[in-house]
Amino acid sequence: MKRALKVLKWAALVVVVVLVGLQFVRPARTNPAVDQSQTIHARQQVNPQVAAILDRSCQDCHSNTTRWPWYSNVAPVSWFVIDHVNHARSHMNLSEWGSLDNRKASKKLEEICEEVQDGEMPLESYTYIHWSAKLSLDDVKTLCEWTTAERARIASR
Ligand code: HEC
Repeated sequence: MKRALKVLKWAALVVVVVLVGLQFVRPARTNPAVDQSQTIHARQQVNPQVAAILDRSCQDCHSNTTRWPWYSNVAPVSWFVIDHVNHARSHMNLSEWGSLDNRKASKKLEEICEEVQDGEMPLESYTYIHWSAKLSLDDVKTLCEWTTAERARIASR
């Protein structure tokens, strides 16, 4: 019994030392400067309803205005969070929408509707913690009607 306790104590110590050690590996959390003339809000017609959904459910990953949660400071969780954001931005960045030509913007809009209709976005690991980011069926409908309208507008340019 005494021996088991001793082993347990050592094991706990090792876990603590490893967790502390992990904290020294700190990938950068960035929020690059936003040029307001390049955002999706400047480039597409975003009504307040759609803006609210994008803000609530997408912008933490798909923009340069991420609200970094406290646990994004704590390894190893921070590694996953930072990696998700970097990955998400590289696929679609609402703060840098202006870098897309008409064809690409139209394609991204189409993908937005597809991703939310399939329930792929926002990521489940995110809505698990951010309940309010979950999309209702109405939200999905609002987004898809908007992307359809915006794609038509792009096509008529
Ligand atoms: C927790 C972070 C996170 C949130 C929140 C999030 N996404 Fe994503 N999104 C990602 C990641 C990461 C990818 C990269 C592809 C992958 O790993 O699945 C991605 C990919 C995408 C893509 C594919 C782009 C491409 O070029 O293939 C679209 C479209 C998209 N997301 C739309 C949205 C929309 C719309 C919302 C809000 C309703 C949203 N996402 C919320 C993390 C997120």
